[in-house]
Amino acid sequence: MKALVLSGGSGTRLRPITHTSAKQLVPVANKPVLFYGLEAIADAGISEVGIIVGDTAEEIREAVGDGSKLGINVTYIPQEKPLGLAHAVLIAQDFLGDDDFVMYLGDNFIVGGITGLVEEFRSEHPDAQILLTRVPNPTSFGVAELDASGRVKGLEEKPKEPKSDLALVGVYLFTPAIHKAVRSIKPSWRGELEITHAIQWLIDQQQDVRSTTISGYWKDTGNVADMLEVNRSVLETVEPGIEGTVDESSEIIGRVRIDAGAEVRGSRIVGPAIIGPGSVISDSYIGPFTSISEDCRIDDSEVEYSIVLRESSISGVRRVEASLIGRNVEVTPAPRNPAAHRLVLGDHSKVQISS
Ligand code: G1P
Repeated sequence: MKALVLSGGSGTRLRPITHTSAKQLVPVANKPVLFYGLEAIADAGISEVGIIVGDTAEEIREAVGDGSKLGINVTYIPQEKPLGLAHAVLIAQDFLGDDDFVMYLGDNFIVGGITGLVEEFRSEHPDAQILLTRVPNPTSFGVAELDASGRVKGLEEKPKEPKSDLALVGVYLFTPAIHKAVRSIKPSWRGELEITHAIQWLIDQQQDVRSTTISGYWKDTGNVADMLEVNRSVLETVEPGIEGTVDESSEIIGRVRIDAGAEVRGSRIVGPAIIGPGSVISDSYIGPFTSISEDCRIDDSEVEYSIVLRESSISGVRRVEASLIGRNVEVTPAPRNPAAHRLVLGDHSKVQISS
């Protein structure tokens, strides 16, 4: 069995963060979301992994390399344009050959991995198996309609009037039957070859398409609130430990990981929280559910329930809460006179000012 991981796409829903970085590399608890997927694939005993890449190919290659550090062997498959998930299967045909495969969308996050699902698929061996989860916003997803016995009756992509709240999760298990399906469908209104349509084609051909409903799912459907929430839940499981340096006047409370090369001085850190390598926290308070990535500077500030990406600094500011701060960002107080906000914001930024 092989895996096909999709890491193209532009990530408009997480702008401005994804203006400068691939959406699959957005970190959850200081680790790119894509890595959780690749680790889940490796844990399920799959080592041959094809990664579909687009405009952000270089960044993905730099992060994942040949996959050996994750215990997999990666083949990169360039997709010249984001022409759809079924198009990705089409161009991966040489790589996939006659093997069964799991298709995994690199921006999806599944709590608990996929080992159980892969085992179930291997033993039951239907023509295809999809995952579903209940969501509050089904119009942003592919949506399934089940019959009374729980069989998949029909699938619709981003329906205006969804027939259920069961969204297609971005993990699919396929036999080679899918290859004929992706060759038989036409592009959708958004100009993409939809995998949803290919699976519907299988259903129309009376093939055996099964579904499993899961909980514990996250996708970048746009709001930072969701991202902070998934970050929170992963931080609750992080292995605590102090590899960096913490001075005597600092206090570390609860589940806190301080990576090698990080430094904490005169500060109080209340977990769950992570401080990435090379970051310096001085005279500050870092509150629960906060991820500070590598090479950040937090000085004379308070930060809680937030994500701070690498090489950013926050100095003399209290309190920053429920915030997602990109890379190389500086946050400082404005001069007292005149009392004004001074902002340099990139495209699609969002600012909430407490005054
Ligand atoms: C794609 C699929 C959709 C599925 C979603 C899950 O949507 O087309 O059916 O529910 O992934 O991540 P897209 O990310 O292309 O909007």
